[in-house]
Amino acid sequence: MIPRAFIDTLLNRIDIVEVIDSRVPLKKKGRDYWACCPFHGEKTPSFSVSSSKQFYHCFGCQKSGNAVGFLMDYDHMEFVEAIEHLAQSLGLEVPYEQGSAPARIKPDGIDEMYTLLERCAGFYQAELKKSELAVEYLKGRGIGGRTAKTFGLGYAPQGWNSLEGNAKLLLESGMLVAKESGKPYDRFRHRLMFPIRDRRGRTIAFGGRVIDPEDNPKYLNSPESPLFHKGEEIYGLYEMKQAVASIERIYVTEGYMDVVALAEHGVETAVATLGTAINNRQVETLFRVCKTLVFCFDGDAAGEKAAWRALEACLPSLKEGRLARFLFLPEGQDPDSYVGEHGKQAFESLADAASTLTEFLFARLTAECNVKTIEGRAQLLDRLRPYFGQIPLQSLKDQILAEVEQRLGQRVDGRMLRLLGAEPVREQARPHQPEHHWTPTRLAINLLLKHPALGRETAIPHEFADGGIPGVELLLRILDIVHDEPEIGTAALLDRFRDDEHEGHLYKLAAMEPQVDDEASLERMFADCLQRLRNQYIKHRQKLLIGKLQSGEPLSDEEKLEHKKLFTKQA
Ligand code: UTP
Ligand code: MN
Repeated sequence: MIPRAFIDTLLNRIDIVEVIDSRVPLKKKGRDYWACCPFHGEKTPSFSVSSSKQFYHCFGCQKSGNAVGFLMDYDHMEFVEAIEHLAQSLGLEVPYEQGSAPARIKPDGIDEMYTLLERCAGFYQAELKKSELAVEYLKGRGIGGRTAKTFGLGYAPQGWNSLEGNAKLLLESGMLVAKESGKPYDRFRHRLMFPIRDRRGRTIAFGGRVIDPEDNPKYLNSPESPLFHKGEEIYGLYEMKQAVASIERIYVTEGYMDVVALAEHGVETAVATLGTAINNRQVETLFRVCKTLVFCFDGDAAGEKAAWRALEACLPSLKEGRLARFLFLPEGQDPDSYVGEHGKQAFESLADAASTLTEFLFARLTAECNVKTIEGRAQLLDRLRPYFGQIPLQSLKDQILAEVEQRLGQRVDGRMLRLLGAEPVREQARPHQPEHHWTPTRLAINLLLKHPALGRETAIPHEFADGGIPGVELLLRILDIVHDEPEIGTAALLDRFRDDEHEGHLYKLAAMEPQVDDEASLERMFADCLQRLRNQYIKHRQKLLIGKLQSGEPLSDEEKLEHKKLFTKQA
């Protein structure tokens, strides 16, 4: 069990806009962020994410929830897993109540799989010590024993059946390869082994490099498994965090050997993707660890292509203070070979001089268009347009516009801005919101959900429960919560109704925007709702009592008192 207070804290500190934006790119329109709904097909956006309320709501399919709910629905995480994920991104440890182990969050066998992979890693490490060939190979590549230990490097021996343990789990984790007939066999044989660890340091997969240059492929990686999703992991992240207390810049490289060789030479803040182009989720993860990323690429055509994809993966994450630089190594070199030849300092000064994102962007775009001609200039703006649109940071946009002015030798005018899709966007009509009949109950709940503080000082009118007012119980429940937790925010408040029959209704209600004339009078509006409810309540009770009197039914003492009160007040 995870304590309620921790979930509240998490929902308070996390930014749902960032969580969703890194998976489904959002556009700001008005106060909220919008996208085409990832949960149903549509061409115009009706999926909204509110930063102030910290939840999302689709006006099309009515799906809604907070950051935890989004991860559960979009990434198919289990509840505890989603909490763990968010906590990790904030650097928080999830406290489990009464020392209970984390609830089993995944199917049976997962814990065993972690243990098993750890055992495989240990086995490979022990084999490395025994294999002269493998040790020689490592030495030949300049890797010392300490670095090998830090990264848990190992050696997978020659045989086909070296691994021991639960065959089903070995198969599922990709350590064994199934054969149509006969026994499964070891995936990794006669290879230098790199354990891939998750952010908590658990081994979740392996990369293996050939030792014999005749063998192929050069690198073999574990397949996707319940523990390992290539696109989510970053090689070297765990080791870097262990080694370095304050990380000033992260070098993002392309290979295991780059990370290991850089560490060997004292550059301990390098990471690598796992043989795939870097994606925005990985960029986002790295930016949360450190605000300066230096992407390192080989100085060839493939390197430039990869750099361009990295740039694209960066754009949506370029928020205040974040910096992406692009380092191109001399032709034929990679970080591993460069640092081996020239050492740490030379590598770092190369990085100091690396292109900024703007420089790289323009270098590439202007190489394609001749800005001396009118057509070329139009072409430049046209090429720039899709990238420009993705940048969330106005100051970076301004910087790029300044660069455009310089490159084109002319001021950026309104027409050019329009070409860039950057005209000051007219506040677009919100996606159609169904007409809502704003009863005082609904309005009070809407206001209270969005501004829980409104209810802090309100005496809770529990008597309304007997007032024949539809939906008022829900309002009372919310007021109760706000009284108990005066600091609660919208998302945490809504989370109290997780799995409640009213959950969907409440999210929908909170997402609606009633006509509010004046932001400053929220308190008055809220008080006004309560007053109207009180009137409704009084009327209902009066009718009830009068009905009783007329039918000749005797009133209880209590009712007599109420009768007196109700009618004198009215008078
Ligand atoms: P490179 O081919 O650039 O190798 O692959 P490298 O990093 O320079 O390695 P060394 O110096 O030859 O040992 C870069 C990355 O691409 C993936 C691996 O993740 C590797 O680290 N890769 C490469 C594969 O997955 N399979 C391959 O066959 C080759
Ligand atoms: Mn290399």
